[in-house]
Amino acid sequence: MYNNNPTLEGIGNKQIDESKQGDVFYAEQVQSKVKDKHFYIESYGCQMNFSDSEIVASILNDMGYAPTRNMEASDLILINTCSIREKAEDTVRKRLRIFDKVKAKRPGTLVGVLGCMAERLKSKLLDQEKLVDLVVGPDAYRDIPKLVAEAEGGDKGINVFLSREETYADISPLRLDSNGVTAFISIMRGCDNMCSFCVVPFTRGRERSRNAFSIVAEATDLYQRGYREVTLLGQNVDSYKWENPETTDKVTFANLLAMVAAVHPDLRVRFSTSHPKDITDEVLYTMRDHENICKYIHLPVQSGNSRVLELMNRTYDRDWYIQKIDRVYEIMPDCAVSSDIIAGFCSETEEEHEETLSMIEYANYSMSYMFYYSERPGTMAARKYPDDISLEVKKRRLTEIIRLQNQISFRHNQGDIGKTFKVLIEGDSKKSDQEFKGRNSQNKMLVFPKRAGLKAGDYTYVKVLEATSATLKGEIVE
Ligand code: 5AD
Ligand code: SF4
Repeated sequence: MYNNNPTLEGIGNKQIDESKQGDVFYAEQVQSKVKDKHFYIESYGCQMNFSDSEIVASILNDMGYAPTRNMEASDLILINTCSIREKAEDTVRKRLRIFDKVKAKRPGTLVGVLGCMAERLKSKLLDQEKLVDLVVGPDAYRDIPKLVAEAEGGDKGINVFLSREETYADISPLRLDSNGVTAFISIMRGCDNMCSFCVVPFTRGRERSRNAFSIVAEATDLYQRGYREVTLLGQNVDSYKWENPETTDKVTFANLLAMVAAVHPDLRVRFSTSHPKDITDEVLYTMRDHENICKYIHLPVQSGNSRVLELMNRTYDRDWYIQKIDRVYEIMPDCAVSSDIIAGFCSETEEEHEETLSMIEYANYSMSYMFYYSERPGTMAARKYPDDISLEVKKRRLTEIIRLQNQISFRHNQGDIGKTFKVLIEGDSKKSDQEFKGRNSQNKMLVFPKRAGLKAGDYTYVKVLEATSATLKGEIVE
């Protein structure tokens, strides 16, 4: 679920499009209050961080801070950070150097670090980064009003307390940089899996699921406001479980999917990320039985070799994963599957790497997020296994993985030529205002000439005429 382009490994995605900088305000700013202060926020890393930034924006909005895209005109600069790989942290530190300069020009501007890096480094971040005024971990966003007040008074504000309960269920996110068509809904927080390479259980804490009714209410509200697609987010959505305290009824992820799908047949439902060990047949059947649950699963394999998977503590082996893939295609032959892959994990041999390549081939992934292993302090792998694959070998293996995945994606997309898909229009294509872009159920991006009478948020049918490894091009058909 991490938004890392493989060719920009670890760079993360800046939410703010710099070309749009200026005194443009976000569409959803609450108008009723007079806002005399402004905040500017950048988000890096996974979709969950982008979603969290919308919770933070909502809290700040209630405090009387309006969002701005112009960093230099803001009173509070926030950066929502990612620790998943070392490069992600390097990127954040580079951004902090830019904020330094803004602060030098505008003394009194506050700078806050949110998210995983705040949680991982805690008060060390205040020692290392003298310009930082606020350090707020992923479970402490409700404390932002108090922490900002402290910082305004000249103190440093820090809260990195991890909670077992916090889900921000009652906070209505302020949608940032929204296209008005697609939105994220956070359904759970934290992760209990302890994959040996992963820092997330340390930065985001224990797994907890959000009240199912608050999720359905958020989806309903989005639909009523014109949104047509929601992505249910969690580190491990298939282990979602929530018990209604009044009835003691239990809601599983399959139940939740059906509940959200029932909001309206025109509201598409996506979800991310699935752990192969937790995705059940019940989930697969629920997907099959609802047209508006998209036929797309992000099912990270990490490695195609059983010994490496064991070291990674993924709790499944190659054969088990293969069976899961078989099951997905058996139940939904038209389903697309994507993956996350790590090259060069501790002690990985050439033969084991070859098994990852053959898994990409077998699973026929429509796309993958691919990385080389980056040791993270405090993780089980850092404590138990030497990071003994040289950078050169890691990079070469990663290149082989990317090359193969590109070929498979190209083949996958070529296979769509001549097919017609129902597409949800998201807006103008990047290249031309004469073309629309939109996704099909399988999460593939289609680009096609506009037709009068259609707009973002409408569904249309598009026949695919051409395909690259990244995009399908086509035309609207009746
Ligand atoms: N090094 C490289 N990649 C990692 N990921 C998680 N931790 C690391 C790490 N230490 C990748 C995994 C995960 C994705 C979100 O990031 O593939 O699924
Ligand atoms: Fe990390 Fe594994 Fe949890 Fe994903 S499932 S966040 S890789 S520990």
